[in-house]
Amino acid sequence: MITEPANIPTHVAVIMDGNGRWARARGKPRNAGHRAGVRAVRATVEAAAERGISYLTLFAFSSENWRRPEQEVSGLMGLFVEALRREVAELHRNNVRLRFIGAREQLSNGLQHRIKAAEDKTAGNTGLVLNVAVAFGGRWDIVNAAQTVAARVARGELAPDDIDEADVAKSLQLGECPDPDLLIRTGGEQRISNFLLWNIAYAELWFTDVLWPDFDKQHFDAALAAFGAKQRRYGHTGEQVEAAKC
Ligand code: FPP
Repeated sequence: MITEPANIPTHVAVIMDGNGRWARARGKPRNAGHRAGVRAVRATVEAAAERGISYLTLFAFSSENWRRPEQEVSGLMGLFVEALRREVAELHRNNVRLRFIGAREQLSNGLQHRIKAAEDKTAGNTGLVLNVAVAFGGRWDIVNAAQTVAARVARGELAPDDIDEADVAKSLQLGECPDPDLLIRTGGEQRISNFLLWNIAYAELWFTDVLWPDFDKQHFDAALAAFGAKQRRYGHTGEQVEAAKC
């Protein structure tokens, strides 16, 4: 069944969790779960484009994921290189603009090179904007933004008392994107895990026990349907929101 909720989110963010458990349940190494996760990434990107989502942001590797066993980290890095090698042409054909957020200087030169090439190739595309967060942390992002704002103050461009939310927001990695309207997390945990801390202030949160490699278009549609049923109040009362629709 294809669900067509009345309110489609402009920006969907996803914490893709459960790859390791998916693999373990099948007696496979954790990296087999990450490899299976690439299929779910593909299905989700397709679903987002088909449903008219403008921005999709995927949490692929957090600042804290460097603490995982070396073999898993190198497997994941290899998978990112491989995914870029295999998928960029198809994404480009589908008018997707690919962007990476995170501490890319921490990545290998080869991966940085492929990321830059993918971003350059798809820079002029006007369809779905696909942000992939690699070596990303929400606190890291806010600290970086604070440094950018502080540098503007030091240069005399901005007075400390004039710093406002917009100054911080535009200095974040997703400074050019609207905030996520909907955050999906798979894998059963209900936490944010240092993802987009600033940007999700008003996001609707949707959690599912489905492990990431099993996530498909039906699950994505279920999240969109739940989002479509929400009344977003931004501090107003429900009555004010209803009255504003008239
Ligand atoms: C979390 O599951 C998942 C990750 C840390 C990696 C996500 C990476 C992919 C889905 C690979 C492909 C991504 C792209 C963008 C090509 P987990 O390992 O923490 O699972 P667990 O909680 O079951 O251990």
